[in-house]
Amino acid sequence: MKIELSVNGKIHSTHAAPGQTLLNALRSEGYYSAKHGCETGECGACAVLIDGLLVNSCVHLAAQAEGHAIQTVEDIGAHPELGWKLSEGLHPLQRAFVESGAIQCGYCTPAMLLAAKQLIDRNPDPSETEVRETLSGVLCRCTGYLKPVQSVLHAAAVMRGEAEPGDMFTPSELDKFFISNAGDFGPPGGSGEPVAGDGTAIQVLPKVFVAPQTETWKKVGRPEIKVDAVKLVQGKPAFAADFEKRGLLFAKVLKSPHAHARIKSIDVTKARKLAGVAAVLTHADLPRVVYSTAGQSDPIPGPLDMFSLDNKVRFVGDRVAFVAAESAEIAEAALKLIKVEYEVLPAIIDPHEALKPGAVRLHDEKEYVNFEASDPSRNLAAHIHIDIGDVEKGFAEADQVFEHEYVVPKVQQVSIEPHVVITYWDEDDRLVIRTSTQVPFHVRRQLAPVLGLPIKRIRVIKPRIGGGFGGKQEVMIEDVAAHLTIATGRPVIYEYTREEEFIAARSRHPMRVRMKTGVKKDGTITANAMYALSDTGAYGCHALTVAGNTGHKSMALYVGDGQYRQKPNIQFITDVVYTNTPPSGAFRGYGVPQGFWPVERHMERISRALGMDPIEFRLKNALRQGELQPFSTAWSEGRQPSPEIIQTNGLEECVRQGRAAIGWDQKFSNAQWQVVPGKPYLRKGIGIAMVMQGTAIPYLDMGGASIKMNDDGSFNLLVGATDLGTGSDTVLGQMAAEVLGTSLDNLIVYSSDTDFTPFDKGAYASSTTYISGAAVVNAAEKVAERIRIRAARMLKKRGGGPDVDPGEIHLENARAITLDSRFITFDEIGRDSLHHDQQEQIMGVGSFVSPVAPPPFAAQFAEVTVDIETGMVVVDKLVMAVDSGIIVNPLTASGQIEGGMTQALGYAVCEEMVYDAKGKARERDLRDYHIFAAHEMPDLETIFVETFEPSHPFGVKAVAEIPMDGVAPAVGNAILDACGADLFENPTTPERVWRALKERAKA
Ligand code: FES
Ligand code: FES
Repeated sequence: MKIELSVNGKIHSTHAAPGQTLLNALRSEGYYSAKHGCETGECGACAVLIDGLLVNSCVHLAAQAEGHAIQTVEDIGAHPELGWKLSEGLHPLQRAFVESGAIQCGYCTPAMLLAAKQLIDRNPDPSETEVRETLSGVLCRCTGYLKPVQSVLHAAAVMRGEAEPGDMFTPSELDKFFISNAGDFGPPGGSGEPVAGDGTAIQVLPKVFVAPQTETWKKVGRPEIKVDAVKLVQGKPAFAADFEKRGLLFAKVLKSPHAHARIKSIDVTKARKLAGVAAVLTHADLPRVVYSTAGQSDPIPGPLDMFSLDNKVRFVGDRVAFVAAESAEIAEAALKLIKVEYEVLPAIIDPHEALKPGAVRLHDEKEYVNFEASDPSRNLAAHIHIDIGDVEKGFAEADQVFEHEYVVPKVQQVSIEPHVVITYWDEDDRLVIRTSTQVPFHVRRQLAPVLGLPIKRIRVIKPRIGGGFGGKQEVMIEDVAAHLTIATGRPVIYEYTREEEFIAARSRHPMRVRMKTGVKKDGTITANAMYALSDTGAYGCHALTVAGNTGHKSMALYVGDGQYRQKPNIQFITDVVYTNTPPSGAFRGYGVPQGFWPVERHMERISRALGMDPIEFRLKNALRQGELQPFSTAWSEGRQPSPEIIQTNGLEECVRQGRAAIGWDQKFSNAQWQVVPGKPYLRKGIGIAMVMQGTAIPYLDMGGASIKMNDDGSFNLLVGATDLGTGSDTVLGQMAAEVLGTSLDNLIVYSSDTDFTPFDKGAYASSTTYISGAAVVNAAEKVAERIRIRAARMLKKRGGGPDVDPGEIHLENARAITLDSRFITFDEIGRDSLHHDQQEQIMGVGSFVSPVAPPPFAAQFAEVTVDIETGMVVVDKLVMAVDSGIIVNPLTASGQIEGGMTQALGYAVCEEMVYDAKGKARERDLRDYHIFAAHEMPDLETIFVETFEPSHPFGVKAVAEIPMDGVAPAVGNAILDACGADLFENPTTPERVWRALKERAKA
């Protein structure tokens, strides 16, 4: 049917198929700011304004929109500089989002802006509650909503004429947040007071206790605006699916309805005959190449146990056949015409059953390739046994031994941008893979044998990514589109639906964890043992390395005290088993949150049983600066371990600052504070967890960078690192700008394309700022050296002063400056080098691999209110004080902490994925699987306690993953404090809390 759509004041005549959504129609007309995040109207990413009202375009028919005025974010502002043409610049909302750090991946940003615009157009002076209610229809998985909410309040004030655009923070306000720390951290600050009290108050910056080094830098340590923010607020076509390609086919995958079955036959005759179908592929059509989907460096530290298509299915949702057709609807119709005959096999859903003698075997294929202790005959994907010291001796020396089992659930990453890939042959018959991935270089290497192409015939382009959280550290969908492009010769797009994200993508490994800890009466830990039974699902992607990190980080934190501190007794054993459930994989924190729920719940219970203060007990036994990371000599992700001394550890200061910020001393175990006047069914409680992570993988993770100077004195910085929304492009640019003595906007940052950018292992293990950052510094120093040499030559030529040694020239404000203040501008140097004299391209390439993985440390605090009649838990406040080394950009780093705490809050109280006895998933959409929305959020407070990590030129450590680790146990401990409910399993759902209260009453 032909319809006319009025979009941003422009009329489009278009053909709408029956049932075509408005989202689909808008995107086909090139309005890419409307995003796909689900199909059921739950995420809000697709929101547009129709006659000024916010509408989710994925559940609105295109035909319904005829005759109405549609507005998208492309219409509400423009880049402030557009050459000779005058620009009105960005809308105050867009500008506030840019300046406040409200954008992380930016996938939800257009919808948030439109939601906010709708509100302000109707109510110019909204309260924070009204803003939160309005934004509640747009789910964000990155930000924690704090900065978006503050941005809307600020923009509203600007539009009322009560605030100036661009004054989100001023230099004087910065002073309130950056607290000098010349060796003495000074008194801890109280609970976060707002910066200003006039209704336009903003609190987008965290409190930073700065290391002395930071004060000498101009770009590093500053809240610089993200390099990609301006394009993201305008809804520019930056993401993988925002791409037009003539002749594009749409891929769909037939999924297994059975948890375990052999495919006896597949009849695709009818599907292939359906008009509009270009290809149908089954296992009989593809070469049988075994591989792993885990996006990791070579060799993959895990078993090879997967085929693009196999003659066996191992979970409900496993692949059976691929279809490419002229439209997604035709591809769906073709799936229904494929006839499959299955021999249904017994299925293992409970991981306990997997190792039992006689259990049905998931992997009996002869091509299976073992890694270390994997043993498919026992359904064992990985096994680790680490003994540090002698735990049996330690238990014998203990006055008391505490033992208990803890359970952690399977949870989903839920990046709002689903997995999406477009593949096509280029003009040189090289296969281009444009994909939303965290690991472009691993995609290229790992897929080459699967596709029967040499690596050099594949080009992987990683555009903007709409969140990943580890879920896109997986080479999971690229092969589907690539096989179909090879089969048809045509471009193909494959995009997961939200249901596919839940039933076929990766998730966090669920575990059952047994803790056994020996302690002396004075609280000294004499031995600590953990056994983890981890469920990798149907395939062993990340099986070994995730489980290894569970022990490597959480069990390393408590070494004991006195003689035990010198020689700790720690044991970690894990079995990672196959079950007929969707595969687990990488998820922010990478096994460590699974370790800290049991460790920190266990430590809390022990300290209370001993009658000790839980903070004192933990600090007495915690790892300290100058000590050996106990696991460093025992295990290193399947590589050769090497000893590592902890050079920096700000944990004690984090505790001091965090306990003051949350008011621990006034609240902990304070019966008076715990009761809520007039509400006898409520109890308040407060809890703590201490955590550590790692920074990259030593002797393995490598990042590269190249920088070239242009003839206006600007620079192109090319990195293979992948910015998932973390802000890594920005912080890498800041480090380059610091070394080069220029402004961030003189750096044009590009990441990543396997043809043009240097290699990088990708975005995982919290390594980008550390590894790729050191590579950038390395490249920038080479460029700086060339600039100094040329400047010295130019000064000599110019005369008017003595000759200068290049070593005496420093770079500042885009100038090369001598000690006697003569200078040459970068603009002059760029032009001289490229056009005038002894021409050369000033350029530097750098790379970095680290011998160490310096851990960040943190103290996580939670305050909760528990309804003791229903078991309902409301988390009122989260405070996290973090030692992540030097904070390159407090805006982006605090965004990471806020977003991480929010994601961890779901892990603490509501997120879990459950399967029935036949392996069918209970959670298939964002209605059943709840993630936090803007109006449900607790107060969030972030405090950075800087230390200078000497193994990095700017002293950084990781920041991205550590906020995942401590929220769940801190909440669990706060619930215990509030009402005595002792929980061993997260999330702490009302039912679990209610049952724990009943148990307590019985006891
Ligand atoms: S609500 Fe429309 S894409 Fe999710
Ligand atoms: S910034 Fe909101 S989903 Fe990424």
